[in-house]
Amino acid sequence: MREVLLSREQIEAICKNIGHLLSEELKDEERAPMVVGVMKGGLNFTLDLIKDIDVPIITDYVQISSYSGTSQTGIISLKKDLSITDIKDRVVILVDDVVDTGYSMHYLRHFLLEKYNPKRIIICCLINKTSVRKIDVKIDYSGYELKENKFLMGYGLDYKELFRNVPYVYIPDQEEIDEYEKTAREKVL
Ligand code: IMP
Ligand code: MG
Repeated sequence: MREVLLSREQIEAICKNIGHLLSEELKDEERAPMVVGVMKGGLNFTLDLIKDIDVPIITDYVQISSYSGTSQTGIISLKKDLSITDIKDRVVILVDDVVDTGYSMHYLRHFLLEKYNPKRIIICCLINKTSVRKIDVKIDYSGYELKENKFLMGYGLDYKELFRNVPYVYIPDQEEIDEYEKTAREKVL
């Protein structure tokens, strides 16, 4: 049986809460802050979160290399850079689904700071997997702290590109993963 980690209602509440806190933090900014969603996993969360931010913001997206199956590669490369680059005097809010080893957020933070020198970077994730951290990264807002090292799916989190469209986050059981492997072979690859 799959275990639901975050239901639609829980995700909605997290977005409301973080959206409210961000709105408070950003309300006096002179130039519109930029929310940057990390594709593809962070898209669902980014698109829901921005609906709960009620100060003027602009949005953009970056894409980095991703997981393959249930094992992480640890090697990060940039697949899509920012489209909006005048961010010297803007706060950037980096939004992702999960911070796991921390490599992705660490990479993106340094990449954006070095290339674009933004005013400040705020890091925001739906789920903070605290037990897996390999590199120290300061997370400013996190929706949920997961201490166990579990493989998660749904709401942007994929298995070989599948099931990002499931509207909640869950922990699949081994039987399901075997089934996904079959689906991936037959319908994706
Ligand atoms: P990190 O670089 O190890 O922190 O990994 C972050 C990225 O790996 C996230 O943006 C996720 O897209 C992906 N990821 C981390 N944990 C999971 C998981 O349990 N299932 C699917 N993708 C994951
Ligand atoms: Mg990701």
